[in-house]
This record gives sequence, structure tokens and C-alpha cells, in this order.
Amino acid sequence: MIVVLIGYMASGKSTIGKMLAEKLNYDFIDLDDYIETSENKPVSNIFKTKGEIYFRKQETHYLKELLQSKNNIVLSLGGGTPCFGDNMDIVLNSNAKSIYLRTSINTLVERLKTEKSKRPLIAHIETDESLIEFIGKHLFERVAYYNKANLILSTDNKAENDIVEELVANLF
Ligand code: S3P
Repeated sequence: MIVVLIGYMASGKSTIGKMLAEKLNYDFIDLDDYIETSENKPVSNIFKTKGEIYFRKQETHYLKELLQSKNNIVLSLGGGTPCFGDNMDIVLNSNAKSIYLRTSINTLVERLKTEKSKRPLIAHIETDESLIEFIGKHLFERVAYYNKANLILSTDNKAENDIVEELVANLF
């Protein structure tokens, strides 16, 4: 089985994904890491040198490749993956079980304030007010895609271990 985790930047996809994979004894793959290894460049560098359109093309290519896998995998996507091209339909039409980790704007802003530099879409945003405004609008645009997931799990004010337990209980 393939479990696909989706959600906005800093919603915990990678942290929760690794813990879930360990618990289930599945492999863990982070799509961004997979792209970086395959393209031999950090995502921020791909954005800078080749542009976002190139990144999105490659993202779809590697997503399709990984969804073909016959192994048991927890796959965490990038925050934008479900929102470009046919990616969300590709996930929904595959055998994977998709889960949206839903996190409030306030929590996302608090986490992203200190983690902007490695994220090309927000690295240029200078003030906290602008970041709040950007994330509010961006999440509003994206949530329609995220909400198509097979399962939606709220993560606010929950311990990581409890989120993983809840996921396991809902998956099987
Ligand atoms: C992006 C999120 C990033 C990465 C890229 C674009 C987005 O992944 O794929 O910087 O469009 O939200 P994370 O959600 O893992 O930060």
C-alpha cells in the first residue's frame, strides 16, 4: 500500500510521515528529497536556475514514477504538489490512500516564520504581517485540492505521536 500525505508547507508531512512509516514498517519517501536526489540539486536551486514551471513538470514526473511502486510506502508530497496539473487526480486514481494533514494558518505562520529561507515561494516575504496575508490567501486557493484527499486529519494542538496513532486507526 502507498500512503500519501498532503498538506501545506510546514504541516508536518515529513515528520509525521517518517514516524508513520516507522510504525507501519513501510519505506518513507519525501517527494522533495526524491526530486533533489534525482535532479542532483536542492529544490530552492531548481526554482532559481530552472524556474517553477520546470520544477512542476519534474514534480509530476516523479510523482507518477513513485505511485507505480509495488512497495509499502509512506510518501509525503510537497505543499504545492496536489494543486498543479492533474496531480491530485493522479493520486486519487491510483491505489494510494491520501491523507490531508490540516493545520491552522496561525500554526503554519509560527512554524514558517523561522523556516522561510529553504522555501522559495516565501523566502522573499519580509514581515510577519505579509507572511500571514500570503499564507491565508495561498491556503485558501489550495484547500480545495487538499480537501479531495481520502481522509482529512486536523493536527492542531495534537502531539505527533497521537497524530500517528489516529492515522493508523483510520487507515486499517
Ligand atoms: C512548495 C512546497 C515545498 C516544495 C517547494 C514548493 C509549495 O515542499 O515542494 O518549495 O508549492 O508549497 P514542502 O511542503 O515540503 O515545504
